[in-house]
Amino acid sequence: MSANEFTVIGHRGARGHAPENTLLAIDTAIRLGAPWVEFDVQLHDSGELLVFHDLTLDRTTNGQGFLASQSLGMLRALDAGQGQQIPTLIEVLDLVEQQVGVNIELKSAGGTGEAVASVIRSYLEAGWPPEKFLVSSFHLPELWEFKQYAPEIPIGALICGVPLDWAGCAVELGAATLNLSSEFVDPRLIADAHKHGIKVFVYTVNDPAEMRMLREMGVDGVFSDYPDRALAVTAG
Ligand code: G3P
Ligand code: MG
Repeated sequence: MSANEFTVIGHRGARGHAPENTLLAIDTAIRLGAPWVEFDVQLHDSGELLVFHDLTLDRTTNGQGFLASQSLGMLRALDAGQGQQIPTLIEVLDLVEQQVGVNIELKSAGGTGEAVASVIRSYLEAGWPPEKFLVSSFHLPELWEFKQYAPEIPIGALICGVPLDWAGCAVELGAATLNLSSEFVDPRLIADAHKHGIKVFVYTVNDPAEMRMLREMGVDGVFSDYPDRALAVTAG
């Protein structure tokens, strides 16, 4: 994430091309040339960190009801699309093998930050540089908790709105990025983040015209279901 770079982040892998948050989606994003992939992580009662977006299984799998109310064995037997399993964080990191940066979004709270920090620690010990990771969350206290366990890992404050104190939450967290919903892009928020040395990434942007507009506004990168489109904008 160097200066003047427009960072392309494959959203839930590359969910425009493959079932979201699966190994296939992550692999597709990498093959499309995305330098970063984003995916969502939830801590299951079993202690496993699962890569999954919703609270419920219905939209993206052949299961029903709440993820939290199913056993790990049941969850791993589900079809998450095109025969894909719900992956674990470790399976995704082993697939990535440092080829791209990984933005791990903490979806659940209650120990998720600590558990993710523990997994990341083992990859740091195996030689991954901290800069290969970006850990983000809408749950800012959980993100704060994560930072206590892994202070060297860059973090991103996720927001879906325009806070009264602009980028204040990201400043207070010591975040590297402010990850902002495309509905709430405001030049004053971008300016305040930049004033504090914080990059602004916008989700979820699939329209090339919007990508170009955001880039001209000074946004530092986008999350896209179609990272190939964002790469084309970057190249153009
Ligand atoms: O991290 C960016 C984006 O993924 C946040 O929203 O709901 O797609 O996880 P969501
Ligand atoms: Mg996400």
